[in-house]
Amino acid sequence: MIKDFNFYAPTRVVFGRESEQQIGRLVVAAGGHKVLIHYGGGSAERSGLLGVVRSQLQNAGISFCELGGVVPNPLLSKVRQGIEMCRREGVDFILAVGGGSVIDSAKAIGYGVPYSGDVWDFWQGRAVPQACLPIGVVLTIPAAGSEMSSSCVITHDESLLKRGVNSDLCRCRFAVMNPERTYTLPAYQTAAGATDIMMHTMERYFSKYEDMTLTDAISEALLRTVKEAAIAVLDAPTDYRLRAQIMWAGSLAHNDLTECGTEKDFATHKLEHELSALFGVTHGAGLAALWPSWARFVCGRHLSRFVQFAVNVMGVPNDFAHPADTAERGIQAIEEFYRKIGMPTNVPELLGRPLTEAEIDTLVDKCSNGGTICVGAMEKIDAEAMRTIYRMANGTA
Ligand code: NZQ
Ligand code: ZN
Repeated sequence: MIKDFNFYAPTRVVFGRESEQQIGRLVVAAGGHKVLIHYGGGSAERSGLLGVVRSQLQNAGISFCELGGVVPNPLLSKVRQGIEMCRREGVDFILAVGGGSVIDSAKAIGYGVPYSGDVWDFWQGRAVPQACLPIGVVLTIPAAGSEMSSSCVITHDESLLKRGVNSDLCRCRFAVMNPERTYTLPAYQTAAGATDIMMHTMERYFSKYEDMTLTDAISEALLRTVKEAAIAVLDAPTDYRLRAQIMWAGSLAHNDLTECGTEKDFATHKLEHELSALFGVTHGAGLAALWPSWARFVCGRHLSRFVQFAVNVMGVPNDFAHPADTAERGIQAIEEFYRKIGMPTNVPELLGRPLTEAEIDTLVDKCSNGGTICVGAMEKIDAEAMRTIYRMANGTA
């Protein structure tokens, strides 16, 4: 079966070594007059990128204000601060300089400025965004794919609920991507980013819609490319060719291209969001700690897909007589890959200790919204299945 689809990817991608030199022109073309430069904890200042951004805007005659300090797994409190600042300063365009956390914070501010109610309403399902300030991105880490995605993931400071809202309104007008800007990434962030990128495609590849072979071929090429580049770049962090593959893959993995004809699963993502909200871990590392357990939980009922993944992505020889063995070897191969790039393969490796049963209760309760919702599409994961997967990943199943 091939699922019907409606593919929409309106973001202009400006990719390459000198791409920052176009920022001023791009903001003008997008109609920005007063810009909020939004950024994270300091990497963009240290690298000199923020200096380039400021002079690009100054040279284009565009006035701006600034709000930094976005933390990984971005917080609602910063979003509220941004909304207030944008209203006070009359901002009409937001320029996110950073990764998924900064971009998502920018998107949330963009939703909040024209909305008269409480911006958290959108993540609570109490309101649907009707407008968003235009957003541009200068990407510094390939990982979340937020530069081309319709999604915006924010954590509530007090309840630690981490939730996503999806709408085409927040799709970025442009994304400036210079792979050289990712040379300064710590190895752990590079590896977690590569893991997240692969997972965005895997969350669409593991689907009950198995007949769009073109999408499969694109997905498999993307996964193999990122896997090989992620290993190689750890020894060659300033290799432009490798950084470029990973950066472009990051956008394609989450702009819905690898979902054409298939379906979003995202069970592993939903399970992970609770982990990163509660423990502040890096999203990609959390995914690596959970995916092998999700895979083993569902694999037996979807063997052909797991065999295809093992053979076409992980390079496992096909043992035609024993498909379950081939599938399991594919899961083992990705665990081996995670170890090679310094990612965990289970929760104790992620946190440095196992979860307590009380913590698993909390994770399940949040992920299932008090037992009222399931996650996943290829297979519906209810609260009981969530508990089993968390326990499997914890080594306590
Ligand atoms: O804050 P600074 O100092 O900039 O440091 C950041 C941060 O500590 C650092 N960094 C970024 N670029 C760098 C750099 N350090 C050195 N050199 C550079 N060039 O990297 C750290 C991580 O940054 P962050 O933006 O948090 O990474 P990522 O892009 O992985 O974003 C993670 C967030 O995105 C969400 C995740 O859940 C998480 O909250 N996601 C968003 C999605 C979306 N909107 O479509 C989809 C994803 O599945 C994901 O859920
Ligand atoms: Zn992700």
